[in-house]
Amino acid sequence: METQRHEIGMIGLGVMGRNMLLNMADHGFPVVGYDNDPGKVEALQKESAGSNIHGVTNIQEFIGLLRSPRAVMMLVPAGPPVDSVIGDLLPHLGKGDLIIDAGNSYFKDTNLRARNLAAKGIQFLGVGVSGGEEGARHGPSIMPGGPKEAYERVRPLLEAVAAKVNGDACVAYLGPGSAGHFVKTVHNGIEYAVMQLLAETYDLMKRGLGLSDDELHNVYDAWNQRELNGYLVEITSRIFSKVDETTGKRLIDEILDVGKQNGTGMWTSQSAMELQVPIPTIDLAVAMRDMSVLEKQRETAGGVFKRPIPPIACDRKIFIDRLGHALYAGMIMAYAQGMAVLAAASDKYEYHLDLEAVARIWRGGCIIRTALLEDIRLAYRNQPGLANLLLAPELAKKVLAHEEDLRRVACTAVELGLPAPCFLAALSYFDSFRSAWLPANLIQAQRDYFGAHSYERIDVKGTFHTDWTKG
Ligand code: 6PG
Repeated sequence: METQRHEIGMIGLGVMGRNMLLNMADHGFPVVGYDNDPGKVEALQKESAGSNIHGVTNIQEFIGLLRSPRAVMMLVPAGPPVDSVIGDLLPHLGKGDLIIDAGNSYFKDTNLRARNLAAKGIQFLGVGVSGGEEGARHGPSIMPGGPKEAYERVRPLLEAVAAKVNGDACVAYLGPGSAGHFVKTVHNGIEYAVMQLLAETYDLMKRGLGLSDDELHNVYDAWNQRELNGYLVEITSRIFSKVDETTGKRLIDEILDVGKQNGTGMWTSQSAMELQVPIPTIDLAVAMRDMSVLEKQRETAGGVFKRPIPPIACDRKIFIDRLGHALYAGMIMAYAQGMAVLAAASDKYEYHLDLEAVARIWRGGCIIRTALLEDIRLAYRNQPGLANLLLAPELAKKVLAHEEDLRRVACTAVELGLPAPCFLAALSYFDSFRSAWLPANLIQAQRDYFGAHSYERIDVKGTFHTDWTKG
């Protein structure tokens, strides 16, 4: 074997790392993978027989196989494993080498790592990769951030392996520092919101309308053929037809109703709070995962607060159509909130994000890909400085066309006593955003009353304080 001929090395040969490597090799790039677990290296060798891939369990050997200046990508769980891999690599790397963290890292960790590595002359890219196992293998959406010159080094490789939409690669340089990881985090925040909205449609149709799994499969399948077309709707339809091999029943009905998380949704909410951007639909989606974990308490409360669920007093087909429209409106709110966080982060952290590019690279490969993203892309193309997606004329038209159905679905959920927090939050977000006046004057009066925090007036400029107890 010729040494030092490998263009890039991958650390972490779990299913994501292995699939990315196989994807790179498919596009003719000579690549080498490293994992300290011999089983994972063996799995890679087996799958890659006859291709441009080499797998090793020794880090020194791994580094020796890379062309200089070296480029190493890692796909390991976020947090301490990333620092541990960097620590293992450092004694073997030198000035001009490049480390790419392609995991779901927290953006503040990425900033810190980039600073520490830059001081050593090592380049660092924080790259969001979306699309799960299938995406990694056949074309993910890739969200790179860091030094532009470092991106240019790996640009041909990333463009080759990324998903394509009409021949357009779903990858774009997003900005300096942690821009890529920040965008990926918000991608996941939107992912949480759309998943929860879908879960709420499921609940309304299952407990509200009494639909069977076959019927649910058909509804989501039909929705996927129209404006709701997108990956999450498509897999939801497929999930309802999957039979459990052990019981012969539908697998969905055998799955415990406890939603787990790896933190990216929570980071989106935390970041939005820090940036003071309201994203209630995403916040509620995170909260509902936390609520689902309280299974024992929910069970007890279910006994204490027992309430029969009355049947939905509406023609089935009419309600399902209404629900589909409400879902579409809810999705617009979720994407609008996510994009608003990106716009604020772009200013505050000087990412200089091109939101049209973000929408463009989310149209293919990633988990939140949906037909709606093309409308979102066009909205930013027409108005690059758009403050909020809801202010884009084409999207505003769509919201208006679906608003009534969102409102009626929210009312139905409230009347039935079925939890639909993301639908309610989507509606409240819309109602407050379109409200030229909000009762925040009372909040200001209260703050001034108990804390002398002062207030502004509508008739005179300046700040004012009143002794509210006097007179
Ligand atoms: C993706 C997914 C991916 C992963 C999530 C799941 O874009 O490919 O978002 O990153 O599946 O991290 O997140 P939770 O475990 O928090 O649901």
